[in-house]
Amino acid sequence: MQHHELDVRYARLADAPAISAITAEYARQGIMLERTDDNIVENIRNFFVAEYNGEVIGCCAIAFYTLKLAEIRSLAVFNRYKKKGIGRLLVEKAESVLREEGVSEVFVLTLSDEFFRRIGYREIQKEYFPQKIWRDCTHCPKLMACDETAMMKKL
Ligand SMILES: CC(C)(COP(=O)(O)OP(=O)(O)OC[C@H]1O[C@@H](n2cnc3c(N)ncnc32)[C@H](O)[C@@H]1OP(=O)(O)O)[C@@H](O)C(=O)NCCC(=O)NCCS
Repeated sequence: MQHHELDVRYARLADAPAISAITAEYARQGIMLERTDDNIVENIRNFFVAEYNGEVIGCCAIAFYTLKLAEIRSLAVFNRYKKKGIGRLLVEKAESVLREEGVSEVFVLTLSDEFFRRIGYREIQKEYFPQKIWRDCTHCPKLMACDETAMMKKL
């Protein structure tokens, strides 16, 4: 892929429908937590997108937990653009913003553990980050049978 046509940037409000389209497909497959359109709009300042030739093809979001701890979430790349380095670029963009904010630890809850391992994350016990359980997991239908891997990286 010619990276000069690729832009990884903060999302704008107008990107919300595209973010919704990308994440909804994976949510239907049970790979990601569903985010409603309202929820995406409310959180638009926490989103980044990858735009290729004017089309939004990937997204990810950050969530702050403490002054030192944040999460990367809602990472998704359209199927036909997978395995071209877009996911990595989105995570790197999010990490650089977190670093600027003084965050020193970032974590993810994911089914794509191999991808995150490749980009420097290591597995941790879920209990390590109890805040996440309180904020999202209580609403998850899988609560007692969570199949996601918790992973983290020091920034
Ligand atoms: C996870 C996801 C975002 C990865 O995006 P991507 O653009 O395909 O990833 P990249 O091309 O940047 O891959 C980076 C590295 O991870 C590897 N990788 C990517 N997906 C992988 C997978 N499923 N299994 C093993 N390795 C994988 C790539 O080969 C690459 O390795 P390399 O640098 O050694 O060549 C994408 O597969 C996706 O949208 N999945 C569905 C949604 C999801 O699971 N999101 C995570 C929620 S937290």
